[in-house]
Amino acid sequence: MTVKIAPSILSADIMNLERDVKVAEQAGADLFHIDIMDGHFVPNMSFSPSVVEGMRRVTDKPLDVHLMIDNPDAYIKPIVDAGADTILVHAESTQHIYRSIDLIKSLGVKAGVVVNPGTPLETVKELFPVIDQILVMTVNPGFGGQKFIPGMTKKIQRLDQLRQTAADDDFQIEVDGGINNETIAQCAHAGADIFVAGSYLYGHDDIKDRVDNLKSLAVN
Ligand code: DX5
Ligand code: ZN
Repeated sequence: MTVKIAPSILSADIMNLERDVKVAEQAGADLFHIDIMDGHFVPNMSFSPSVVEGMRRVTDKPLDVHLMIDNPDAYIKPIVDAGADTILVHAESTQHIYRSIDLIKSLGVKAGVVVNPGTPLETVKELFPVIDQILVMTVNPGFGGQKFIPGMTKKIQRLDQLRQTAADDDFQIEVDGGINNETIAQCAHAGADIFVAGSYLYGHDDIKDRVDNLKSLAVN
């Protein structure tokens, strides 16, 4: 399967967001990752649905929206209306994750579930037949620039094995947090398909080289 690189705009220059989107597109980005944080579910705040709407105006690439918020159901429709292609909800952020996934799918976009480093895969197993993506957090959510948690590689591997065992369940494995030229190969080898990268890609002059590096190292 071809790997996909998803720059996280959390690390982009917010005052030059359009420029940073275009530069990443030209460098070979396959999709864009947009983090929405509410200051409750995670100890930080970031973008709102209006940023998704702005992103939709400047790129045709898929928009992958990662909700790190309490009460996610209330924001799903506004974010779909703003132009999201995939919405990812944390299993820990709602008591009724199946309902949230149903809601996303009923609005005609792809649905994904996110698992925090401390959340067991068993929590989301019942969702395997209905989801398009599982996002494995490889850092604690809330901030860019954190260090990859090494034990997460085994978790990705276990998820890939579970996916292979359940032949009818077809979803992509996405990883988010601390992905760089030193960590991407192990994640790819473990079975990940989509790689979010923020601080490794943005804030440097050589984004094209960095995307190329990630793509060449992500062989699964
Ligand atoms: C963290 C966010 C990530 C973040 C990743 O909670 O979900 O998407 O932007 O940043 P890096 O790649 O710098 O770890
Ligand atoms: Zn994210």
